[in-house]
Amino acid sequence: MAKLSSILPFPSRPLPAVKGGVAIVTGASSGIGRAIVAALAELKNAATTGGPSSVSAAAGTYVPDRIIGTSRNPDNITDPVDGVEYLPLDLEDPASIDEFATRALALGPPTALVNNAGESQSGPLEELTDDALHRLFEINVLGQVGVTKKILPTMRQQGAGRIVMVGSMLGSFPLAYRSSYVASKAAIKGFAFAARREVQPFGVGISVVEPGSINTGLSTRRTKYVDLQGPYGAEFTTMLTNLDNNEANGISAERVAEEILKPITATRPKPLYATGSMAPVVFPLSRVLPTATMHWLINRKHGL
Ligand SMILES: NC(=O)c1ccc[n+]([C@@H]2O[C@H](COP(=O)([O-])OP(=O)(O)OC[C@H]3O[C@@H](n4cnc5c(N)ncnc54)[C@H](OP(=O)(O)O)[C@@H]3O)[C@@H](O)[C@H]2O)c1
Repeated sequence: MAKLSSILPFPSRPLPAVKGGVAIVTGASSGIGRAIVAALAELKNAATTGGPSSVSAAAGTYVPDRIIGTSRNPDNITDPVDGVEYLPLDLEDPASIDEFATRALALGPPTALVNNAGESQSGPLEELTDDALHRLFEINVLGQVGVTKKILPTMRQQGAGRIVMVGSMLGSFPLAYRSSYVASKAAIKGFAFAARREVQPFGVGISVVEPGSINTGLSTRRTKYVDLQGPYGAEFTTMLTNLDNNEANGISAERVAEEILKPITATRPKPLYATGSMAPVVFPLSRVLPTATMHWLINRKHGL
């Protein structure tokens, strides 16, 4: 039976396959970013040696010539992946974005850009400081957009390229005490969904991948803005305990990396991919249940 998406009058356009060139992955020092550069390095190694690869066969259709990973301090990376070139990038600093883009573009034609770096922030809206809000949006939104704007012109001129924004399922399913993070992930999705049509005629794809709870140890790096003795303290602690448990029991960063390779290798990359936290059930459910019921379910899952 034909897929609904292929018989509807507005199918997504096929895009030219991306081959070789430079793959850029921001935030590659740990977690999901590290897993992405490791998967790409494995694919490259398998293609060079003809050896086996644990990464899915479909992902093997994209083998970059060079892999760039970023960190604010590449010298501090304790377990770098062989075959990955690490460059400094601080998304809070426009000068760092400029310098990074110049260095990355000098290494060869960019074929894939994965905007993965991000901060995970929590706290009741009333207690989020202005500094924290500005920093979060600089890192999770404006920095990602800034890097994209630097890399996109070359992709457009060469007529091929794939851009992936790493969002979060919280960008689709808001959770209390995560308002700034939820809003930043919804914002990056808005940029991607709207710009997608602009770049499609030039052979460039933009997709969003929304991970659910992933076991990356992110909970230890989360920033928190809350007075635990204040009016929100008790509920915040309940939410965070449940969130950290979900993450500890979440799927692996390697599984997310495979999902992130899909929009890079697909002929017709979808606008949105999601994995973890029962994504195949939760998204269809959200199309039939009232919004208020979905919000209740998400909060309930976190003990609220
Ligand atoms: N883990 C989850 O459950 C989960 C769920 C949904 C979505 N996500 C999203 O997935 C992405 C990766 O998360 P993760 O769990 O892998 O987190 P992680 O292990 O903490 O990695 C975050 C990365 O972002 C980089 N980074 C942080 N601040 C930066 C800045 N100012 N400028 C440039 N780079 C910066 C870090 O690099 P340095 O510290 O080396 O600079 C690090 O490599 C994030 O966008 C996150 O929001 C994660």
